[in-house]
Amino acid sequence: FIGRDAYSGGLDTSTILKWLLLEGYTVVAFLADVGQNEDFAEVEKKALALGAERMIIENLQQEFVDELIFPAIQCNAIYEDRFPADGPVRYLLGTSLARPVIARAQVRTAHKYNCKILSHGCTGKGNDQVRFELAWKACDPSLSVIAPWRMPAFFNRFQGRQDLLKFAAENGIPVSSTPKAPWSQDDNLAHCSYESGILEKPDVPAPKTVWTRTVDPLEAPDIPTKFSVTFRAGIPVKLQVDGGETVTGSLELFKALNDIAGRNGVGRIDIVESRFIGLKSRGAYDSPALTVLRLAHIDIEGMTVDSKVRQIMSWIGNQWSQCLYNGMYFSPERELLENSVLFSQKHVHGTVDMMVYKGAAHVLSRSAPESNLYSEEQASMDTLEGFSPEDTSGFIAIQAIRLEKYGAAKIKHGEP
Ligand code: ARG
Ligand code: SIN
Repeated sequence: FIGRDAYSGGLDTSTILKWLLLEGYTVVAFLADVGQNEDFAEVEKKALALGAERMIIENLQQEFVDELIFPAIQCNAIYEDRFPADGPVRYLLGTSLARPVIARAQVRTAHKYNCKILSHGCTGKGNDQVRFELAWKACDPSLSVIAPWRMPAFFNRFQGRQDLLKFAAENGIPVSSTPKAPWSQDDNLAHCSYESGILEKPDVPAPKTVWTRTVDPLEAPDIPTKFSVTFRAGIPVKLQVDGGETVTGSLELFKALNDIAGRNGVGRIDIVESRFIGLKSRGAYDSPALTVLRLAHIDIEGMTVDSKVRQIMSWIGNQWSQCLYNGMYFSPERELLENSVLFSQKHVHGTVDMMVYKGAAHVLSRSAPESNLYSEEQASMDTLEGFSPEDTSGFIAIQAIRLEKYGAAKIKHGEP
């Protein structure tokens, strides 16, 4: 039984499938549809032709958006950035978010077809092996795992692409006539990732041909696209495109925003990140809708969430992101964090007006009539309504007690 990365129909995964069959296993191949661009019929044909007992293809798009992508937006998820900034400067976890949904479906399928062993095609140096295997263990500890790329019998035999091609020729594995891109790609609704191969040199810019989800910002339309996103309890529930359509279903809304933001070149990043297993890797990612929705969500929280709660939630969002990155979705700490997130989102209702233009997303205005913590009267510099300025003298005096002592001591000791 082999997982998404193990059977996507490519050279690596076809080799693993054939190798497992030659080792004497009966194989049920599994492929999740998480919104990637893929010829599913072709993959199925190939798996069956190679000898898989069955090829299971499951559409998981809806649960992916509702159970992983939207919770990520609710907690402003981001990896390796404690202070979520406006810009898409860090990894928004696209691959990490898809893994729990895929792994859970794999275990479901294993139960259905009475499989006792799970296998995948992840390398021994990455995060994904950890994510799949931890999720499988949590969902059913009785299943065992075969990870070919960590088995000497496998990796000693297939040391490079030439060995794979030779094996393919000997075993009737059809090799695609269109040569594979010289990097590794992981495509789903949330993003497309590009790593390894020619991208392994961080000092060389990614070639223009890497990006599949966003247009080059320099070539994006000269006219901005405006739209508004409405949130209910921190969940995007409505997209209204300026002078155009209104979209409400979660999956449809997310896809529509992927399209709008992608067309305007929004959501690209190129970074070096720290993998869970300890090494650093260079990655390029396009996450158009996720970038825009995260920004909109941070903005509406500004109107509707208490300042102290926001500070704590920034830590919680960071911990949640860490859990997802490290494959700890099926853990007690993720459940604890997510419950706090839900609590913090109780009053996050409102609408954010935005604009995307040549690679950047901008917030133009926002309103939150139901749960507004902002008061124009209180904030105004033109009126003293609802505020006693004389109280502030006491507030400053008390805040200063500590600082006065510290300052006086420094002066006494002649410290700068
Ligand atoms: N570095 C990213 C992560 O760990 C992307 C991984 C992409 N995975 C893949 N099998 N191509 O989440
Ligand atoms: C892999 O190693 O299989 C892909 C990259 C990763 O999992 O981090």
